[in-house]
Amino acid sequence: MPATATLTDDLFAPEVIADPYTYFGRLREIEPVHWNERFSLWLVTGYDELVWILRHNELFSSAVIRDAAAPPYPPVDPADVPLFDEIRDFRADQLVEKDRPEHFDQRSVVHGYFTPKAMEKWRPFVRAAVEELLDDIQPKRAMDVLTELAAPLPVRIIAEMMGVPYEDRDRLRAMADGILYINRGEPYRFRPLVEAIRGIVDYAAPLVEERIDGDGSDFISVLAGGETRGVFTRHQVLVNTGLLLFAGHETTMNLICNGLLSFIRHPEQWERLRADPEGMARLATEECLRYDPPVKSTQRIVAEDVDLGGRTMWKGQRIRWIMAAANRDPTVFSRANEFDIGRQPNPHLSFGSGIHYCLGATLARVEGQEVFRALAERFERFELAGGPIEYQPSLQFRSVKSLPVRWTA
Ligand code: HEM
Repeated sequence: MPATATLTDDLFAPEVIADPYTYFGRLREIEPVHWNERFSLWLVTGYDELVWILRHNELFSSAVIRDAAAPPYPPVDPADVPLFDEIRDFRADQLVEKDRPEHFDQRSVVHGYFTPKAMEKWRPFVRAAVEELLDDIQPKRAMDVLTELAAPLPVRIIAEMMGVPYEDRDRLRAMADGILYINRGEPYRFRPLVEAIRGIVDYAAPLVEERIDGDGSDFISVLAGGETRGVFTRHQVLVNTGLLLFAGHETTMNLICNGLLSFIRHPEQWERLRADPEGMARLATEECLRYDPPVKSTQRIVAEDVDLGGRTMWKGQRIRWIMAAANRDPTVFSRANEFDIGRQPNPHLSFGSGIHYCLGATLARVEGQEVFRALAERFERFELAGGPIEYQPSLQFRSVKSLPVRWTA
């Protein structure tokens, strides 16, 4: 009997969703490249194997939504197939789903917008937004971190990046909330997702039209410039506007919630941060990203038969690479299961690696640093104010359903 036979093959099992570290950590120890029969996909959990895959983009395609031959998981109810197809058309045309050479051309259009230098310029805006949110929150003595801080902050920043008028912010926030159903497991997930997708396309269409011949510097203008130069179709401009809302929202939200939760569970690390919030915020944010990453895993399709970790992956098969497991690989990280905000170096894989490396990484870091710094400056101690922490049934995201906390000072 293979050693993995003692482990469940249900990746949505409550214990796997609640604690992916034990489950995927065990897989990494036994078989870092493992075939999951139930979902017809490879699970890659070892650090070296994962980096190898990401550096060999010619062998592993990102066009998963368009090309996956295996059935989606969780299964789609036949009545929802038209909705599923609409979602697939929207997602399959996004830059993150493209392979070279198309991906190279498309990424080149937006690359300049996202350079670390350009993103660092957002710090004063981020800092002001964090302080403004906390000014409202602090007198209350309790909050749901998710709904009051972690969700509104990234939407505020993305709205500014898109050049969305102030009065439309609530509308954008509602669409951003609907987009959170991407890659989740609830049976009813397709309807709110489709409504959000239609909403963003309808909303963005006139904004693109307005900016197509302009020389604006907001994100939609940059995408529209790509259309003028023949790199993007209009559909691609619209779906990549949606990508910004998707890629920059839930991820950052999770960084803030999971990071704060790690601090609550490790009060000695919170004290370390409080002793020097400005000085420690950078390293602390990296450790939050490593220890409980916002994105647990993402996916590829095998483009050519390939041997890895003693197994043969066949062309067309799906892969899920689990950064939540690789980030705790003891061959790379000492005391890998410990939360240590002074950890250095910290080569975590939470933003991926290779040609699809997260475009928003610097911005996400700035947001995390500004939030953890401001919280440590303002609050002496947080404690959990609700029942046990529950997570969304997602293989991709590590998202709490809520994070109620209270504080004493
Ligand atoms: C803590 C926050 C974030 C995390 C953990 C994260 C994680 C990731 C990961 C793992 C990928 C690679 C996906 C792949 O290889 O298939 C990625 C790609 C991407 N991210 Fe992020 N992300 C975060 C924040 C952001 C933000 C704030 C933005 C933009 C405002 C953003 C925009 C993007 C885009 C556009 C891509 C696609 C890049 C490409 O395919 O070339 N992300 N992100």
